[in-house]
Amino acid sequence: MNKQRKLIIAGNWKMNKTVAEALDLVNGLKRELANIKEVDIVVCPPFTALPAVSQSILDSNIRLGAQNMSEHNVGAYTGEIAAAMLKEFSVRYVVLGHSERRQYQLESDALIAKKALAAHTASLKPIVCVGETLAEREAGSTEAVVARQVKGSLAGLSKDQMEETIVAYEPVWAIGTGKTATTEQAQEVHAFIRKMLTELFDEAIAKRVRIQYGGSVKPANARELMAQPDVDGALVGGASLEVRSFSDIVKNSI
Ligand code: PGA
Repeated sequence: MNKQRKLIIAGNWKMNKTVAEALDLVNGLKRELANIKEVDIVVCPPFTALPAVSQSILDSNIRLGAQNMSEHNVGAYTGEIAAAMLKEFSVRYVVLGHSERRQYQLESDALIAKKALAAHTASLKPIVCVGETLAEREAGSTEAVVARQVKGSLAGLSKDQMEETIVAYEPVWAIGTGKTATTEQAQEVHAFIRKMLTELFDEAIAKRVRIQYGGSVKPANARELMAQPDVDGALVGGASLEVRSFSDIVKNSI
């Protein structure tokens, strides 16, 4: 595939996998994906499995991500996890503003922007999620919603920081529903996001930022989605929970 941006395929395990289950999965992925160099492969286990998975992937081409973090560095924030705590386990990426957190924890664009800045301060690469609901798409407001989220969630980032930020377009109606955006729908919104990045930052940066698609990515649809000019990777939920389906998504993306 002739793309200027290296693909990044990340597995978002959400609230799944005990430590033992996480090790089973990641050991299987290590075996299946040992020879892959064309794609950056990232797994995002729950916090409790980060130490064990971190150890297990030391000698592999798999990198570690977390699913969330606090916007604060330290202090009286019961139940929260700071960037520096993730760094202790060689975490390199952190998913921010996933639609489930926007929905259940009422995370706002302003909060996500603070988290993205805190991530960069700790040299973690944020994967900032945006995407419209079905009602918003049907009302014709996809671009307005995505524009508001992109602008709000990336507010305050410097150009250098933006270059090290990954954007994930995840239409909420496609997450865990088996309904995937068509390749045209995905490409259209990805191109729109890149145009926004040109306006908010500059063209060179917009060209370099990787924009992942997420929402029912499966081995059968990965190839076509990844072939779109502005689709630079995938954020995979359900299909990242099994060795076979996740490794097939990675292999089919090349
Ligand atoms: P899904 O989830 O692949 O199960 O649709 C994607 C995500 O929420 O990141």
